[in-house]
Amino acid sequence: MKEKNIYEITDKLVHDACVKLQTPYFGTHLYARQGDSRRHIYMQAVVDLQGKLAGDRPLKILEIGSWAGGSAITWGASLKAYHKARGTVVCIDPWRPYFDPGKIGESPIYEVMAHAAQSGEIYELFLHNIKTTQVDDIVMPFRGESDKVLPLLADNTFDIVFVDGAHTYDAVSKDLKNCARLVSEGGILCGDDLELQLGMADQAHNRENCNKDFIEDPKTKAWYHPGVARAVGEFFGQTSVSVWEGFWAMRRVGDSWKPVELPPVEKYPVPMHLMDALCKVTQLMIDTMKFRGLVSDK
Ligand SMILES: C[S@@+](CC[C@H](N)C(=O)[O-])C[C@H]1O[C@@H](n2cnc3c(N)ncnc32)[C@H](O)[C@@H]1O
Repeated sequence: MKEKNIYEITDKLVHDACVKLQTPYFGTHLYARQGDSRRHIYMQAVVDLQGKLAGDRPLKILEIGSWAGGSAITWGASLKAYHKARGTVVCIDPWRPYFDPGKIGESPIYEVMAHAAQSGEIYELFLHNIKTTQVDDIVMPFRGESDKVLPLLADNTFDIVFVDGAHTYDAVSKDLKNCARLVSEGGILCGDDLELQLGMADQAHNRENCNKDFIEDPKTKAWYHPGVARAVGEFFGQTSVSVWEGFWAMRRVGDSWKPVELPPVEKYPVPMHLMDALCKVTQLMIDTMKFRGLVSDK
């Protein structure tokens, strides 16, 4: 087995400390933190916007793919902050290994994630994180695969549906198709990881690699999720998709989908649960120890 470096060891220590201290953990151990935290600013704006349209009515949010709870907590905390805690967040995730690490890419991240899911550690961390951020009263996990669970849900049920499950083209296409009918009139279908829209990418390269996770586009040199780009691009056709830092959203209007206009987002912070103060303190300690020659990088 590969020897752990100083960062991996301290990340695990911080994780264990957070679990003991009953505080949320979103550091790099188990890749608990997923995606770009700035996207959570726009997620809050979507809840605020839909909350205003809903008036006193509770908002129903559906999330496909929750991992350690980073986005589920943002949805739940936003309901509390901007909609007087009126609403629920239903999370569908098997919390089981969902890809063949060798097939979707070369990064060691895939081995670590497969192990975190297999061992049950990531589901435990999800439960810990929603509890310690006090959203466990409105966030409801359902353990299962989206293509088995989604067909059981009724049409027009949710105000916001967030697609962030498996990222291959086949998986995202299926999720979009299964989720579309669940969005209520005026509701939002949205998702993560659209760093590059399909029209901008090298088409042949995208087609060949759309069941990989994260690749470099030879045309633009951007790193992106080719499966998300192809599935979203095909699903919405010619319509240009509204996207902010990789978080995308479209509004259902009758039988069609329209881009979403968000209000100015300055008032929305990067959510507290993603502020990794403990990790920063640890990093500072490591840097100091390295500077004093007490530890090495290797
Ligand atoms: C990128 S992670 C989600 C990250 C999370 N939304 C966040 O922002 O912290 C992808 C998640 O999709 C889940 N997943 C994989 N296949 C799935 C499926 N068939 N149905 C539902 N979820 C799935 C994985 O278990 C994993 O937790």
